[in-house]
Amino acid sequence: MWDNGVLMRAAFVTPLVYGLFTAVLVAGCGGEVPVDEEPTVPPLVAIDGIAEFEDLNPDPHILEVNLFAHYNEVALASGGKTWIMAYNGTTPGPLLHARVGDRVIVHFYNQLAEPTTVHWHGLRISDEMDGNPRIMNPVLPGESFVYDFVLPDAGTYWYHPHVNTVEQIGRGLHGMIVVEEAVEDAPVFNQERVLALTDIRLDNNNQIAPFKNYGPDLMHGRYGNTLLTNGKSATLKATVKRGAVERWRLVNAAQARHMSLSVEGASWRIVGVDGGLLPQPYATERMSLTVGQRFDLEVVFDGEPGSKVTLTQHVFASVNGEVQEVPVVVAEYTIGEDINEPATPVYPAVELPPLPADAEELLFSLGAVNKPGTGVVFTINGKSFPNIPDAVVQQNVPRLIRVKNEIGPYHPFHLHGQFFQILTRDGAPANEPGLRDTVFVGGQQEVTLLSHFTNPGAWMSHCHIAGHAEKGMMSHVIVEAATP
Ligand code: C2O
Ligand code: CU
Repeated sequence: MWDNGVLMRAAFVTPLVYGLFTAVLVAGCGGEVPVDEEPTVPPLVAIDGIAEFEDLNPDPHILEVNLFAHYNEVALASGGKTWIMAYNGTTPGPLLHARVGDRVIVHFYNQLAEPTTVHWHGLRISDEMDGNPRIMNPVLPGESFVYDFVLPDAGTYWYHPHVNTVEQIGRGLHGMIVVEEAVEDAPVFNQERVLALTDIRLDNNNQIAPFKNYGPDLMHGRYGNTLLTNGKSATLKATVKRGAVERWRLVNAAQARHMSLSVEGASWRIVGVDGGLLPQPYATERMSLTVGQRFDLEVVFDGEPGSKVTLTQHVFASVNGEVQEVPVVVAEYTIGEDINEPATPVYPAVELPPLPADAEELLFSLGAVNKPGTGVVFTINGKSFPNIPDAVVQQNVPRLIRVKNEIGPYHPFHLHGQFFQILTRDGAPANEPGLRDTVFVGGQQEVTLLSHFTNPGAWMSHCHIAGHAEKGMMSHVIVEAATP
């Protein structure tokens, strides 16, 4: 028999009240404790661009959602609808939006005809929740899985499958994650926007073109022929207030396309990267956003009324038989009437982990071999997944990671479950500040990184060009828990 009294008491002792209770015990008696007061949690900011998940849980510190992977027909480009793999009907899937420290419960249902998992790219959560098919059994067709984790870090992240990724990402499966800073740290803007940038390869009937694993698709990964911004090929358009100060959160969700981006018609600077806000925002002319990475921008609409603010992707295309860089405007905002109160965002003090001079080295040498019988496979330290020995490191012991690209094509190198800092690129200081989980490694380039390996578990380390990873450029780093 249930004792209702116990149940009710248990329900009443929420973590917050429990915290107060403990504090009183520790402090001894004296003073009044406002246990009757409802704890108030300020609502999350409104984010423009992608509709959010419906939150099924009334607790303001818990985001509980349903996530379905299935097939759907949607309008991506002009000229007819496209059959895609969708999260909750759309590409990108719903925006996962919560605050640092919140708990997220995702009831995931696989309604595809093939196994899949969901990986929460960049989140330093437990490896059991990471969507790694070596740790969790892939969710079979018709089956479900509950992902349950607490958000450890504020920032812009994303989610995508980690099974048959060339096809599953190539058919539309990805979504964005926004983790707001703690209330007292959060810079305030007039508007926040998410911009999920990707591409997709459509045939003449607007259907997803067949997948092949040879030729340029094998060497460079599958490029799309249609750029998508928040799931649309058409330029995003809106009218904005003059003087407004906005935060734009960009993700490169493509599976092969390295992006060169710029903003025209407004003052802007980079304020955050993969692992959250930077200690020091910085201005630049061009952003180099590699596959899997994120940038947070501060954009100030300081142009004249009627002028345009554009987000441009500079792509390589053949023009009159010559390959040239071509600007493609993917979002265009028209400056309208003055805003009443321009925001004055205050950025919290961010301190990056120290960079010790003498960390032991961990080498990832990225290559390829042409094997008789199997053709080209991609390698890390001379071997191909799943035959690459695990690297073993200790939690909280900083390591210098050397990523050496031995071949021509670039590799966006990604490490699950950890952050790193980019130290050098071809021997020179990299000037790519902040905490990252993904780094561009150009053809024949060498980059050095430093990670403190804060998160114990088994973590994938791989090229984020889906085809390269699936053809072998994927290994594991085992982070052994520090003994307390
Ligand atoms: Cu976006 Cu294995 O990662
Ligand atoms: Cu690669």
